[in-house]
Amino acid sequence: MVSGRVSVIFLCCFLIGDVCGDWSDIEKVEALIRQWAPLVWLSPEEKYMPLNIEEFLENTNIADEQGSILTQSKHSVRFFQYNLKNFFLVPNRPLERLKSNRTSFIYGKNPKIYPKVPIYAVMTYCNSPSYRDTGNNIFGRTDWLPSFHVTYWMFYPFNEGKDACFLGKVPAPLIFSKCLGHYRKLGNHIGDWEHMSLSFSGNSYPDQLFLSVHDAGAYYTYDKPTNIFKFDSKMPRKGVAQVPKFPEFIRLQGGHPVLFAAEGSHGLWSTPGDHEFIRVPKITDKTGYGTPWKTWASIKFYHIGRTEIPPWMSFKGKWGNPKTKCILFKKFGLCEYTEGPRGLLRENQDFYC
Ligand SMILES: *[C@@H]1O[C@H](CO)[C@@H](O)[C@H](O)[C@H]1NC(C)=O
Repeated sequence: MVSGRVSVIFLCCFLIGDVCGDWSDIEKVEALIRQWAPLVWLSPEEKYMPLNIEEFLENTNIADEQGSILTQSKHSVRFFQYNLKNFFLVPNRPLERLKSNRTSFIYGKNPKIYPKVPIYAVMTYCNSPSYRDTGNNIFGRTDWLPSFHVTYWMFYPFNEGKDACFLGKVPAPLIFSKCLGHYRKLGNHIGDWEHMSLSFSGNSYPDQLFLSVHDAGAYYTYDKPTNIFKFDSKMPRKGVAQVPKFPEFIRLQGGHPVLFAAEGSHGLWSTPGDHEFIRVPKITDKTGYGTPWKTWASIKFYHIGRTEIPPWMSFKGKWGNPKTKCILFKKFGLCEYTEGPRGLLRENQDFYC
């Protein structure tokens, strides 16, 4: 960490303002991030809306893998950063009771009613903050922009699973669109992080966009003449039997990438409609024009290495429940309750400098 040096730079910026340059960089970067923040269409039938982290932590406890409560999340989440990763955030009231109460935190906040529900923007810079010491060409140039990556993180307190067809205990394909066995809802979990990333290399527009869809994802390249993002490549993750077919384009509206969050699971797609991503059992994401979430209305900015990060960001455990009610094997099987996701500081980046 370079925090000592960074605070000296910040102090200098307070005293001599834009001569120093660092603050004005940060302001420029934040303006770009605001300008390119996505318009997220929540699904017409969506029940589980986004939420701010503070309210989630107020309503959860830290538990171990067996689900035994260790302490409240609110004040202690930061102390779990160095420890084993097998800690979980679980609701401090029974899930069934929360679900039966439409004003409980589990349903999140509708951005139409609460435009302040935040999106979390995490920036990593490719130029180190100390480049100024060697400083040619920086001072006096007002058009200069740093190279950086930004990930827009959306948090939802609950991920509703999908109906999957089973014959007895075995996942089954649909026969002429009919399930000959019975449906079970698989993949519910507390805590749901979804994200989109952009890479900037010194221009006022991004080069690439990464869209995360469940455990897979896709890269799109920005085409300036047509002002759209075009599909570039898939980024499948290991050990995941997913076959998503990504849409060809991501369009812009008012300069904002337009995304669609799938009903219940909140996976991000760039077109409305049905998106199949697992064949057997058939699991499909449904998206459509429900509630528009104008994420630029409330962005929390975190400049890694330049500004402080909040204590909860260091939590290394899972942002939800341990897995329970699994079919076949606990390790590989499909579960009615799957494990909550990891936090947003991850080993694998969407973009590298
Ligand atoms: C429903 O949830 C709200 C918000 O947490 C709470 O204030 C209220 O007491 C709950 N109602 C019931 C009946 O539990």
